[in-house]
Amino acid sequence: MEEIVWKPSYSVGVPSLDEQHKQLVSMLNLLLSHSEATVRSEAISELLTRMTKYALNHFKTEEELMEKYAYPELSVHKQEHKTYRLKVAALCQETMDHKALVPEELRQYLMGWWINHILKTDMKYRSFFMERGVT
Ligand SMILES: [Fe+2]
Repeated sequence: MEEIVWKPSYSVGVPSLDEQHKQLVSMLNLLLSHSEATVRSEAISELLTRMTKYALNHFKTEEELMEKYAYPELSVHKQEHKTYRLKVAALCQETMDHKALVPEELRQYLMGWWINHILKTDMKYRSFFMERGVT
């Protein structure tokens, strides 16, 4: 799996959200670069915990902005976040309980989900937030 290199075309038009997306991407890349480290290592358990917390906080930021501006696709968007939360919680639990290394399935899910979510679902709010001057 290749690391994600941030491109201007990934921008969702809201600087604060772009900043959070960049942080998430750098954590994903860190996870890839540690593919040989065991799940028990502090680097990995700490990273998974940090990523999970960061993602929750990021979803909260997005959802609060969508609520504040009455974004029409809020409920669909929220549902996608929820699906991610449940899936990642289950995969992380499974990993910590039964795996020695971070499984390919978890890495692929994380990389695939974020890229797809940012480029397809988040992009849909780009013009909506930009028209309202959200920063
Ligand atoms: Fe989102």
